[in-house]
Amino acid sequence: MSRKIRIAPSILAADFGNMREEVRAVISAGAEILHVDVMDGHFVPNLTLGPAMIQALRESVQIPFDVHLMVEEPDHLIPAFLKAMGEVEGSFLTVHQEACHDLPGTIRLIRELSPKTRVGVSIKPGTPVSALEGIEDMTDLVLLMTVEPGFGGQGLIPECLDKIPEVRELFRKAGKDVLIELDGGVKLSNLELCSGADLLVMGSAVFKAGDPDAAMENMKKVNQRIHELSVETE
Ligand code: DX5
Ligand code: ZN
Repeated sequence: MSRKIRIAPSILAADFGNMREEVRAVISAGAEILHVDVMDGHFVPNLTLGPAMIQALRESVQIPFDVHLMVEEPDHLIPAFLKAMGEVEGSFLTVHQEACHDLPGTIRLIRELSPKTRVGVSIKPGTPVSALEGIEDMTDLVLLMTVEPGFGGQGLIPECLDKIPEVRELFRKAGKDVLIELDGGVKLSNLELCSGADLLVMGSAVFKAGDPDAAMENMKKVNQRIHELSVETE
């Protein structure tokens, strides 16, 4: 049996001054979902973008968004982000376990406001999988950080990959299936290592040097490799 692995290009590494063209380039090369990193300068030291950018992208492209909130206590911002994302089948809104004092409450809030949006929970490299206990029946996706969140272009921490079977086991025990996403340091040369996950974020490995043509070529190569790996696991 083969599991479909998908790549989510992360616009954090794209040219912010030419975002529409960068995004269109990766979509034309087969990108099915777009990863959007939201950082608040508090939960992580970096600051990125807000609902206005997401809204602008939503008006120019149709594909689902995979919005990764690296924001302390995100509840007050969630309505604005969901509105900007639109009700698009297959979109994800992910919050950090470490950032929410009432994680089940935050998950319920997302579901109430947007029944079509799937809910993700992320953990940082130092957070154990046991931190996800109790939310197995509320969560569609677990985003495992494979670098310390905050910046693109870092090297993948291989030990984080050990969490993949742990997450599968935790959810299996609860009788639930879950999607697993890896974020940070994923590149062509370590795709095989990452192939136990369902969704792979790729920032700097796709968007390079502010060049949409290069991004298109990178996306094509990566999708080709993913296709080969899926065939190999059949
Ligand atoms: C890091 C972000 C990532 C980032 C990954 O905190 O969550 O999504 O864009 O970038 P690369 O693929 O360059 O490591
Ligand atoms: Zn991310």
